[in-house]
Amino acid sequence: MKYDINKLTLDEKLNLLMGDGAWKTSSANGKLRQVVVADGPSGLRKMYGKSETETETATAMPTLSIVASTWDEELARLDGATIADDCIEHGVDVLLAPGANVKRTPLNGRNFEYLSEDPYLAGTMARGFINGVQEKGIGTSLKHYAANNREIYRLSQSSEIGERALREIYLRPFEIAVKAQPWTVMCSYNAVNGVLAAENGYLLKEILRDTFGFEGLIVSDWGAVYEAFRSVKATLDLRMPQDKRHAEQLKEALDKGYITMDDIDYCVNNVLKLIEKAETAEKKIETTKEQRHENAVNIAKAGMVLLKNEDNILPLKNSGNYFVAGGVAIDPVIGGIGSALVQTEYKQKPLGELLAEKLPNADIQSSENPHINTWAVRRRAYLAYLKNSLVKAYGKDAVIIGVNGEEEGESFDRRSIRLEKEYELIIKEFAKYNKNIIVLLNVGSAIDVSPWIDDVKAVLYTGFSGEGINEAAASILVGETNPSGKLAETFPICLYDTYTGEEVGNGFVESYTDGVFVGYRHYDKYDLDVAFPFGFGLSYSKFKYDNLRIEKVGECDYKVLFDVENISGIGGAEVAQLYIKEVFPMVERPEKELKGFKKVFLKAGEKKTVEIELNYRSFAYYLTPYKRWHVQNDIYEIMVGASSRDIRLQKSVKIELPPETQQSQINKNIAE
Ligand code: BGC
Repeated sequence: MKYDINKLTLDEKLNLLMGDGAWKTSSANGKLRQVVVADGPSGLRKMYGKSETETETATAMPTLSIVASTWDEELARLDGATIADDCIEHGVDVLLAPGANVKRTPLNGRNFEYLSEDPYLAGTMARGFINGVQEKGIGTSLKHYAANNREIYRLSQSSEIGERALREIYLRPFEIAVKAQPWTVMCSYNAVNGVLAAENGYLLKEILRDTFGFEGLIVSDWGAVYEAFRSVKATLDLRMPQDKRHAEQLKEALDKGYITMDDIDYCVNNVLKLIEKAETAEKKIETTKEQRHENAVNIAKAGMVLLKNEDNILPLKNSGNYFVAGGVAIDPVIGGIGSALVQTEYKQKPLGELLAEKLPNADIQSSENPHINTWAVRRRAYLAYLKNSLVKAYGKDAVIIGVNGEEEGESFDRRSIRLEKEYELIIKEFAKYNKNIIVLLNVGSAIDVSPWIDDVKAVLYTGFSGEGINEAAASILVGETNPSGKLAETFPICLYDTYTGEEVGNGFVESYTDGVFVGYRHYDKYDLDVAFPFGFGLSYSKFKYDNLRIEKVGECDYKVLFDVENISGIGGAEVAQLYIKEVFPMVERPEKELKGFKKVFLKAGEKKTVEIELNYRSFAYYLTPYKRWHVQNDIYEIMVGASSRDIRLQKSVKIELPPETQQSQINKNIAE
């Protein structure tokens, strides 16, 4: 290592274990280069002031929920690489992203920052993002470790989770993503099973470092450290932001023998390694601002999900006459609130204008008043708007309405998963006079569409797609882009169909009594209908699945092959998904679990063979008494489909492992 720990005094060492202010590491009296960190997951947010909006401008990328619904690890990588160029330009060494927490409830205010309700998808996409950032010489911070699945009470509440659910669901995305060796992992605010994540030696040392093989630095979430010495004992290396008491507290703990010099040196060494990485990494900006914007648009195009398209009302026709309504179609929400908020200089054009450019022969009119969201309290203005717009929209071929839900952001949760009341009303009102309603769902997370879904012909989930949202939506609406996104989270029929409903814990404890039955695993278990299932998304093309073959290539390794054919006249991409079910399990197991996927691009009429590999971990569950991954000798259904509720091909395999092989897995950390 470049830096000699022995050249640091005790005070310098202790200061190195906390930030210098909020966004950089200590210089140890000028001896060391300072590492600059900044948020976040939807683009760079480098602060220069105290208020949330006092940040340098950067490319506002789609939020991670949209990145996840591309189901394309390469695009996650591109997303990361694009943000990394902004980091280099702004002198930032470590980007505080990605967030990989599993979406347990659609109410979580920060769901837009996270990837999926499925741990395999979340982990895979997080890995792609980390690789993209770090290949550019910028570090990442995989967060929020662990079990931070809602915002309310995030500072106080303990997530009480059984070992099996912890390992199979909540830690699994981290286990997968850590294979990319993020420079840092950020612990969460909450406690897990009664011990604060920042002090949780079991989670930080035993699992993250010793079992998952994490080699980097553990940083606290901002203000997550409570008792300094307990964090150091748990191998949390860096407390953020600066807290003047930190060094004093550690010195006292050292004197009392609560921690040793070795404990301190262990953390100091990790900080020194981070500094060295930041200093030696090769950093080169490879994109112009315009190219970064293009990347934002392209990821948004691939991540938006077409949920409904009755009578093929989309794409819009060049000869049509259309009306564009709803404030968010003019001034859309590009991201959520909090540390993921990005200030962009990019001024996007209103949707109506973009549509008019793309469909020169069409007649496209838009409503004039942009901000319906604020009209919730200005009812008269709202009614005037409505009347005015209804008159203009009368007799049009179709009406396109951009709608929004409750505010989504950090430190609070949504209270409901319905749209803003005014938006539900607007859809209903327009639907009275026009049968062809096209809704753009400008929301960051799952929405209850039941009050109005039967009144509309088409729904495009645009999510919070960053500064390219209108361009991407327009491109899909006119058919320039064939939609290929698929939901990375279920849209339940209503909140009460979710396991947690309105429950939020009591401020001290939240019991994860749903165990491993999270997301689609829950709806499958109770055989619940959903509005739009996990993995669902329409295309303008049609795909046919055929010819499933399963080849055994190792003791518990299989190669799954099948054909996907584009049987339409238009090129497109399909996300083929592979799920596994154990048929006669000895423990409760989900009806199906995602174990592989591939996004295939197919020209009109083209057919391709898709190959997905399975291994021991694809079949295993966490065997709590023996603390290991276990594959039961049994029959397993291999299901291939277009969504979790649209299985097209199915075959079973019988696994017969000799007992010695099963035993040999003890204590082995088998890669996926
Ligand atoms: C958030 C983190 C963020 C940090 C720094 C915290 O409140 O939970 O996600 O990286 O602040 O802004």
